[in-house]
Amino acid sequence: MIPKHVAIIMDGNGRWAKARGRPRVFGHIRGSSRIKSIVEGASDLGIRALTLYAFSTENWTRPDTELTVLWKLLKKYLIKEVKNLEANNVRLKVIGEIDKLAPELQTLVKSSEACLAKNTGLFLTFCVSYGSQREIVDATKRIVNDVISGKLMATEINEALFENYLWTDFLGDLAKVDLLIRTSGEQRISNYLLWQAAYAEFLFMDVLWPDFSKENLSQAVNDFSKRQRRFGGI
Ligand code: FPP
Repeated sequence: MIPKHVAIIMDGNGRWAKARGRPRVFGHIRGSSRIKSIVEGASDLGIRALTLYAFSTENWTRPDTELTVLWKLLKKYLIKEVKNLEANNVRLKVIGEIDKLAPELQTLVKSSEACLAKNTGLFLTFCVSYGSQREIVDATKRIVNDVISGKLMATEINEALFENYLWTDFLGDLAKVDLLIRTSGEQRISNYLLWQAAYAEFLFMDVLWPDFSKENLSQAVNDFSKRQRRFGGI
């Protein structure tokens, strides 16, 4: 079985650059250039949703020089790739605390999403200034507000309703992650899609993100297809 929703923690850019005696940002530049072929690979494999962790709520503590490069790379990706995504029928969403980004970048994000909104192929989602705990707290606040304003009754709150308030709501049934890949060999979830990955299969791969290839994605999908998922049953 092909995983419908694959989520990736793109880890190891810094180590990739360090191994080559280059500054960390060199790894981010190379890492961002990998995204195009992984998106193509995901579409070719029949994956329906690909969610990439580009920047966490905790990443704001990194030096300004590194942050500036990361924002430039996101901007460059959006400017350069929207045409290509359109040609490949890809839908794009950026989730996270987007209001913390520079206004110009926010506008670019919104216009890129709008350009691709009518497509029917792969859902490509970038998590930017994203933290799963923040997402869950945000959902809780909006639920409480809806209860206070009388739009919702407390007795109506259940898992399905809660999911409607998460930032992945637009994915519908696809929001549940089937396969979560972390590159670089680290074995942590780092505040990523905690709710959505409740029954995900985890795969920690010993390859640094700037080296991650379509073949690695294929291997991951192949590994997933051999797993037995029981969702708590027997
Ligand atoms: C983790 O590696 C990677 C990040 C925090 C950033 C990921 C960003 C990109 C791949 C480029 C972003 C561009 C777009 C278009 C979304 P790390 O820096 O923590 O590596 P390390 O653990 O080896 O130090």
